[in-house]
Amino acid sequence: MDTAQYKALSIKEFTKAAEIYDSGHAGIYELCKDDYPPILEELETEPFDTLLDVGCGTGPMIELLSAKYPEKHYTGLDLTPKMIEIANAKHLPNTVFQVGDSENLPFDPESFDAVICANSFHHYPNPQKFFDGVQRVLKPGGRLILRDYTSFDWLVWLMNHVEMPLVNLIGHGDVRAYTRDQVREFCHKAGLKVEKLEKQKKFRMHLTARK
Ligand SMILES: C[S@@+](CC[C@H](N)C(=O)[O-])C[C@H]1O[C@@H](n2cnc3c(N)ncnc32)[C@H](O)[C@@H]1O
Repeated sequence: MDTAQYKALSIKEFTKAAEIYDSGHAGIYELCKDDYPPILEELETEPFDTLLDVGCGTGPMIELLSAKYPEKHYTGLDLTPKMIEIANAKHLPNTVFQVGDSENLPFDPESFDAVICANSFHHYPNPQKFFDGVQRVLKPGGRLILRDYTSFDWLVWLMNHVEMPLVNLIGHGDVRAYTRDQVREFCHKAGLKVEKLEKQKKFRMHLTARK
């Protein structure tokens, strides 16, 4: 699959998912909610004013943040137009939601104090481009907080070489899991300093990296 086909598959899947994402009955996407509290917890450890949520979906993280810190400035970016349409209909204060690609962040250099990315990174076919872009749009000293999936190296290999080809056969599989060493290398190449990189319960990866 080339990059364009990969992203077309993401948009197809998430256009359908957008309709039910906020319903409380979103199937596997309900699991995403487990990642919101640890991201909030990280954000509470230092002040920020401008925040970018990459792969924001219908904007659940920005909704939570906006309720708590309505005076901050939020930007949500997502590849799937339907997700952004639903996010925009929420009319959150000091917030802009826009369609765009995580691998080509459409923002000026040094725009954000914090970039968050939850449950989206495993859909990016060119992960290094994402990290390079984050490094560019973060202000000096700004932080990336990323939650995604990982496991032991051998299990990540099985996920990518056995599970994904099988789910591909039924029209899904625009997904790839990474080991912590691979993520450390992406950050290193992008010029981001890894501060925390953990394999947590329920196959979760928790990363904080600083510019
Ligand atoms: C499982 S949802 C997660 C939404 C939200 N971050 C959350 O945790 O609830 C994954 C989102 O990533 C978005 N996505 C996938 N590939 C993307 C890309 N290349 N650039 C931006 N967003 C992307 C999808 O459109 C989808 O809305």
